[in-house]
Amino acid sequence: MTELHFGVIGAGYWGPHLIRNISEIPGAQLSAVADLVPERLQALRLRYPATHLTRDYRDVLTDGIDAVVIATPVKTHYPLAREALRAGKHVLIEKPLTRRSSEALDLARLADQEGLALMVGHTFEYNPAVVALRNIVQRGDIGDVLYVDAARLNLGQFRPDVNVLWDLAPHDISIMNFILGAEPTHVSARGSTCIHPTMHDVAYLELRYPNGVLGHVHVSWLEPAKVRRFTVVGDEKMVVYNDVAPEEKLRIYDKGVIRTTSSGDFADFQLSYHYGGVTIPAVPGGEPLKIELMHFIDCILSGTRPQSDGWSGLRVTKVLEAADKSLRNGGTRKKLHDSAALEIIEGQAPLRRRVTAAEEALA
Ligand SMILES: NC(=O)c1ccc[n+]([C@@H]2O[C@H](COP(=O)([O-])OP(=O)(O)OC[C@H]3O[C@@H](n4cnc5c(N)ncnc54)[C@H](O)[C@@H]3O)[C@@H](O)[C@H]2O)c1
Repeated sequence: MTELHFGVIGAGYWGPHLIRNISEIPGAQLSAVADLVPERLQALRLRYPATHLTRDYRDVLTDGIDAVVIATPVKTHYPLAREALRAGKHVLIEKPLTRRSSEALDLARLADQEGLALMVGHTFEYNPAVVALRNIVQRGDIGDVLYVDAARLNLGQFRPDVNVLWDLAPHDISIMNFILGAEPTHVSARGSTCIHPTMHDVAYLELRYPNGVLGHVHVSWLEPAKVRRFTVVGDEKMVVYNDVAPEEKLRIYDKGVIRTTSSGDFADFQLSYHYGGVTIPAVPGGEPLKIELMHFIDCILSGTRPQSDGWSGLRVTKVLEAADKSLRNGGTRKKLHDSAALEIIEGQAPLRRRVTAAEEALA
């Protein structure tokens, strides 16, 4: 079996989760870890005695290393990843890929030119519950999607380098793109700087997907309870993914509203409410981060493109960049794409077509 040698840059809060998973995967060798803080390296020494621990990230870009995992603050992602790709390493970078879309584009192109795997840690795309949710939506089990709502709330952790949008919303944007198999055409965001004088700690993001699908994301560092909830409302059923539920994270509600018209006149319609049962689909187990790392390894060995590759990271960065501008301009709507020019994410079915109320009225 081919053994891949891994180097990790960044052993703060998230790095140790990646380090542990790499060390547990057969065929992956945790060869080196770099961090600027000696105490963080010291904390790893006992558990990983064979791993080279260093304060200099350049020691991780040496000949014996095949792949580099970057878990450092966001502003360092681009220079570190660029250097790693230039050194011929496959790279997995934590979300968000970069601070600017121009940087993300550069990395995606560079990885393709060099024939290297570049992957961004959109962890939820490897979460079995999210994959099950995607399958439910793409099979049409809930009918045509009307809107999607996400809430990612907690008290903290405040970050010094990025606002709440850049910290938390990458997950929800990547989940929405993933389950809908599309990317938004327009974005706007509003928020508040409740604690920090200039850094937004609460934000409400509105995404417009093709075919009239609305995406809404609420992210906050200033909430009393931890919430990780994702709701997809279809015209036949509704599904809720609750990531903090200890079990039964997915629930499909057979509920909806049916509009009928007796005269055929659009203005003359009646509503009836449908209250059906709740289905709890079985979701396979597995730690998403391990599944993500195993996918990265598979892609390196098979020369295939990661599900969350550099281009996927670019799509999310573009949304964040536009949303950040909107946030600082009182919520103005930013156009990302023409619907007609939309690139449907490779390997995924396009959104099912929904007849809009306006089209129905014209029919
Ligand atoms: N996927 C997820 O669910 C998830 C969760 C948390 C954090 N993250 C991401 O992980 C990344 C790191 O977040 P964190 O919470 O661990 O941050 P952190 O500040 O706790 O840790 C970052 C570490 O990087 C080190 N570092 C910085 N520059 C370095 C350099 N040039 N060389 C070597 N080490 C360097 C710092 O010393 C620090 O220990 C961020 O991109 C964040 O968005 C992802």
